[in-house]
Amino acid sequence: MTDKPVSQPAEHPELWWQKGIIYQVYPRSYADSNSDGVGDLNGIISKLDYLKWLGVDAVWLSPIYPSPMADFGYDVADYCNVHPMFGTLDDFDELVNQAHKRGLRVILDFVPNHSSDQHPWFLESRSSRDNPKRDWYLWRDPQPDGSPPTNWRSTFGGSGWEFDEATGQYYYHAFLKAQPDLNWRNPEVEEAMHNVLRFWMERGVDGFRVDVLWHIIKDDEWRDNPPNPHYNPEYDPTYNQLDPIYTTDRPEVHDIVLRLRSLVESYGKDRLLIGEIYLPTERLMAYYGPDANGAHMPYNFQLALLNWDSDAIMQAVDRYESLLPENAWPNWVLGNHDQPRIGSRVEPYQRRAAQLLLLTLRGTPTMYYGDELGMLNVPIAPKQVRDPFELQEPGKGNGRDPERTPMPWNHGPGAGFTTSDDPWLPIGENINCNVEDQQHDTDSLLNLVRTLIQLRRKHRALSVGSYQALPSKAPVAAYTRIMDDEHIYVLINFAADPQEYPLPHETMLCILSTDPERHIPAAINNQILLGPGEGVLLVVEEQEQN
Ligand code: GLC
Repeated sequence: MTDKPVSQPAEHPELWWQKGIIYQVYPRSYADSNSDGVGDLNGIISKLDYLKWLGVDAVWLSPIYPSPMADFGYDVADYCNVHPMFGTLDDFDELVNQAHKRGLRVILDFVPNHSSDQHPWFLESRSSRDNPKRDWYLWRDPQPDGSPPTNWRSTFGGSGWEFDEATGQYYYHAFLKAQPDLNWRNPEVEEAMHNVLRFWMERGVDGFRVDVLWHIIKDDEWRDNPPNPHYNPEYDPTYNQLDPIYTTDRPEVHDIVLRLRSLVESYGKDRLLIGEIYLPTERLMAYYGPDANGAHMPYNFQLALLNWDSDAIMQAVDRYESLLPENAWPNWVLGNHDQPRIGSRVEPYQRRAAQLLLLTLRGTPTMYYGDELGMLNVPIAPKQVRDPFELQEPGKGNGRDPERTPMPWNHGPGAGFTTSDDPWLPIGENINCNVEDQQHDTDSLLNLVRTLIQLRRKHRALSVGSYQALPSKAPVAAYTRIMDDEHIYVLINFAADPQEYPLPHETMLCILSTDPERHIPAAINNQILLGPGEGVLLVVEEQEQN
């Protein structure tokens, strides 16, 4: 581990999203205002006061656009409207207005790689080979024997090519066949997509999370992807049979990203561009752009993917810090609508410190709705499965329904999420896991998360200070966050048994512990005995008194 500061300061003055916290809402599951069992915009509006209370800075909404819902909104049939199930454009304007009134920003999901096969662009495109929109999608002739043009696979299983009888060609879809990929080599497509961004920014949207940004452009020579030597048929989705070097992370993607950034920024320096990119850290960094003029936040999914092991995690943190380009701002993600819940990925005794890690590392945290309550993966019976990934490749554990279940607001019927007795996914059965009860319990995970957010606001060392790894041995992780004279020490015990850690100063003050039993604030001399899974924040005593 390094023992020197490797991090850089934030821009001065810092932009809101550098010191802020982003909170992802999966709209279908947040709050249902009209009793149809599916969440909606008015439901979200009714929970803005909760988000304000929690202390986050921005809400990112997974797609709310008209969609046949083959992939639950990631199959967009109209980029400039709202699905009637979620509400209307007026409701959306009201949401932006109400959020802004409370000082909360609104970030939309932007899905530019593919549309729905029901989008008018695709309906036109497939209508004939000489339709002006034909080239808006990726159409190719079959091989002489009639087979697909390349070996490219769909992420959700099977060939990525679908044959269209009527026009005698195949179209490519990186996901479902109901999600044809757009042709980003066609300038008309890019312009149409820029117009989508303009449409929403003119309605006051503060930024975008760009879906599968690293997929957006494919090889112009249509080369076959090579086999992946690491493929494990037992666990891996069949997509992993090949190494997708010709279908993802193509060099041309970076110019597209620069143009997206400059468009977003033309509406103000505080508009935000986030990219969903699942790539190894060194390749992820290129998405910041050559002069930090690409994506503001290429999402860093390491905490959502790595085993919960102190060495693995702290090595990843140090490596990420050391690879960050100049002027690039870090970010951390613990979970999202595509990954198992953090509460289920770690041992119960580690759940509280996982939140502490997310909220004390250097960089913008993105929280996933319900993780602040410790929501777990909810078991989904075969009859209840909704996710197309699970339906296409059953039994491999690909299903994403378990992490998309309704937010529990109270312990009443429908968990305060809905008054329908038929929510679109089952509601978790852990009755203590709900907002109302946890708000009243000072020792709850929810109140711990809220306190951490408050501390992050209070101490600039935590929000925008530099990061320095401290000497430590597994299973303890240790680092400092530093801003001017303020040093905040973070210690986390990843193990189930207590661990001693020699303090860097003779006497230190513990200002927060994940263990409600520890008396806070408390002076500690020489060394600290960390309890099972305990995480603490410490300062040098005089610092706190100043
Ligand atoms: C992204 C989304 C995921 C979706 C896929 C296809 O990875 O996060 O939910 O299925 O893109 O749009």
